[in-house]
Amino acid sequence: MTMLQEDIAPDLRLKDCPDWGYLFREFYELYRFLPSGGSPRIRSHQRTVREALRRGVSKNPVVAPQPPADKPVTAHLKRALDLGREQNLAPVVRALESVTPLLSWQYGYEKVPKGLSGGYAYAELCGPHGPVVIDEVILGVVLFAPGCTYPAHAHKGITESYICLSGAVSENHQGVYAPGSMIFNPPEHLHRITVGDRDPALLAYAWIGDRGDLSDQKMVFTRKGR
Ligand SMILES: [Fe+2]
Repeated sequence: MTMLQEDIAPDLRLKDCPDWGYLFREFYELYRFLPSGGSPRIRSHQRTVREALRRGVSKNPVVAPQPPADKPVTAHLKRALDLGREQNLAPVVRALESVTPLLSWQYGYEKVPKGLSGGYAYAELCGPHGPVVIDEVILGVVLFAPGCTYPAHAHKGITESYICLSGAVSENHQGVYAPGSMIFNPPEHLHRITVGDRDPALLAYAWIGDRGDLSDQKMVFTRKGR
């Protein structure tokens, strides 16, 4: 007789995991109160993210923990959290700290670009693949080691925002983003990120797209650097 997962343990739901619930409340507030700088396009993206999150959370979604995993860059996580706690998005950083033992840090590429394996990893917080199963929006965090360059990449069918929680980054040499800043990347927009030499950088990200694009999303690097 085959044993179904449901026979072993009932589904874990968001209401059983208050730390995740508090974290999503902080993300909701971020996407409600962060300035949009007068850009209707960014304001609309912020609204789309928070509405998708609100709908997802209201269904008391399944929590399907991903196996906890570290990468070399996670040796910089404590420093990133320590600095983030001193900055203006400290409430988000503290809520994130509560779930850090559960995070599954990944590269997201079958073959990690040369030089990037020690400098980068991301962990999902919600999305079609969990850990909190919400199909309309992917939220996650990405951690960069000091001096890391994240090569040019684009996301097919995905509108992306990054919010700096700790450290400072530049995108395409076109601006410097410190805690509280948002970077907006429309679908197919090629972007390359650089990180300061002294400290790591921790960014939150949100991805919005069709359900198909969200669940199949693969990072794509271009061959040409910039
Ligand atoms: Fe990106």
